[in-house]
Amino acid sequence: MAKKTIVDFYNMKEQGEKVVFLTAYDALIAGLEEEVGVDMILVGDSVGNTLLGYDSTLPVTMEEMLIFTRAVRRGAPETFIVGDMPFMAYQTECFTAVGNAGRFIKEAGADAIKLEGGRKVSDRVRAIVDAGMLVMGHIGLTPQSAGQFGGWRAQGRTADTALTILDDALALEEAGAFSILVEGVPGEVTRIIKDQCSIPIYGIGAGSPCDGQLLIVYDMLGLFEVFQPRFVKRYGQLARDIASMLSDYAHEVREGQFPTRAHDYGMPAKELERFIAEAKSKGLIK
Ligand code: KIV
Repeated sequence: MAKKTIVDFYNMKEQGEKVVFLTAYDALIAGLEEEVGVDMILVGDSVGNTLLGYDSTLPVTMEEMLIFTRAVRRGAPETFIVGDMPFMAYQTECFTAVGNAGRFIKEAGADAIKLEGGRKVSDRVRAIVDAGMLVMGHIGLTPQSAGQFGGWRAQGRTADTALTILDDALALEEAGAFSILVEGVPGEVTRIIKDQCSIPIYGIGAGSPCDGQLLIVYDMLGLFEVFQPRFVKRYGQLARDIASMLSDYAHEVREGQFPTRAHDYGMPAKELERFIAEAKSKGLIK
């Protein structure tokens, strides 16, 4: 199937067809996502928590993001890929933001970039759009500023914070974002944002009124067990399955049950005979 473009995403919104959106960080999972027809892949800086073992996304660098984005592009050549701008790749000013966004597109094959924040980053969104790139906004519970929220907690549950989030969405649309990801916000607020914006509104922990749904792939696979946000549905228990397989392997190695003859390359009897005879004649074996 041909890679989707923003025209497809706008048409899907128009027709009420939900966009299936998942993260991926490697070629293998990205390939499986492409195989089942996932519409859009986010190479999220959540790779910091899921694969790199950090306790936040803050330490993730541009170089790391480019490595993971290239891997996802190799695994899913026909899928629309969004590269996630890591902390300090766009926070300071427009020049840095445009340069780093360009690296995702030019060096890693991403189709669009995502960055966190609303009105306060709208000048950077405008600058990146003016440079010819596609920007997805990200508002609500934005993990890179979780410290300012006093931790990782839902946003927009009071009238004042909901108003700020709505204003952020309008500022992003005005700045030229092609879509907005809303995270950790009550569904009632997301519905109002969706009604007031003409661009697609995707959600993660933002209720059902969205034009598409994102989950972190390791969360939905049941592979990431460190914490489970309320909005995550686990479709399996991959971490437990893997632990059980690792434990079976350890047991079989210790008990001499693996490898068996079936896993041995084997050698033709004549070659083995000649090998032993020659090794003996050379004094290599006694
Ligand atoms: O990095 C990521 O995966 C994200 C999601 C949490 C929205 O930004």
